Amino acid sequence: MAAQIIDGKTVADSIRANLGVRIEALDSAGVRPGLAVILVGEDSASASYVRSKERACERIGIYSRDIRLSAETSEEVLLDQVEAQNRDPSIHGILVQLPLPSHIDTESIINAISPSKDVDGFHPVSLGRLAAGLETFVPCTPAGIVELLVHSGTVIAGSEAVVLGRSNIVGRPVATLLSQKSPRGNATVTICHSRTDDIAAHTRRADILVAAMGAPGFVTADMVKPGAVVIDVGMNRVDDPTKERGYRLVGDVDFEPVSAVAGAITPVPGGVGPMTIAMLLSNTVTSAERTLREDFR
Ligand code: GUN
Repeated sequence: MAAQIIDGKTVADSIRANLGVRIEALDSAGVRPGLAVILVGEDSASASYVRSKERACERIGIYSRDIRLSAETSEEVLLDQVEAQNRDPSIHGILVQLPLPSHIDTESIINAISPSKDVDGFHPVSLGRLAAGLETFVPCTPAGIVELLVHSGTVIAGSEAVVLGRSNIVGRPVATLLSQKSPRGNATVTICHSRTDDIAAHTRRADILVAAMGAPGFVTADMVKPGAVVIDVGMNRVDDPTKERGYRLVGDVDFEPVSAVAGAITPVPGGVGPMTIAMLLSNTVTSAERTLREDFR
């Protein structure tokens, strides 16, 4: 039987509908959520992500400040820009699109973002709070993955979850969330990476398989347990002369053969991608709401 397709657009729409209500309530209190999006350089994939994020803000009523800097921008100028957004009370979230040009130290930039505006959840304070099980901004893609699992009716507690990839943006935080002692956690989690011996032996045990290593079509049907839930985080551009833009987007999962084995699977595009954006909006609204909360002032 073919796998259930987990439609990220539908789940993202329902999250956005709920956010609309919260944005109206903020409006009544005189607060409009604001997000500063900083893009350094002209990488076309990054520019396309940033455009999607800005459009999503506009559609839902979040103020988005679009800050475009040339690829030659110095680290100092970028730090000043981040500081300016930290100080601006109309900005509740700051997103510096990664990757940054190689002459800029990414860690210094992330460290400069105020944790109270860290809607990407990449600051060490945010990641530390996540690891400790405290309230924090959860990185958007991992948060979106858990939402997709919950909305698709996947039982997380007690399951075997295998995460491919150990990045700070996806692999590690999603492993933390799935193993957390919480209603949306309690899975037994294995993280596989480039030095893992016999990855397939691990993936074949997985009830939930999260592929986030950025290798097109890496997960093949023989690596998947029948009935498993497969979440594909890959967003790889591969050359395709039949397409007008010259490439197509493929995930880390070999979609057709794997969907014949899996119980449920996310497509690329239209799976995790829309959820990442929905969770960014959600974190920005949460940050704006905190300005009205006594305990966050
Ligand atoms: N680059 C790829 N994914 C992301 C993301 O979620 N946030 C930022 N800031 N940069 C990224």
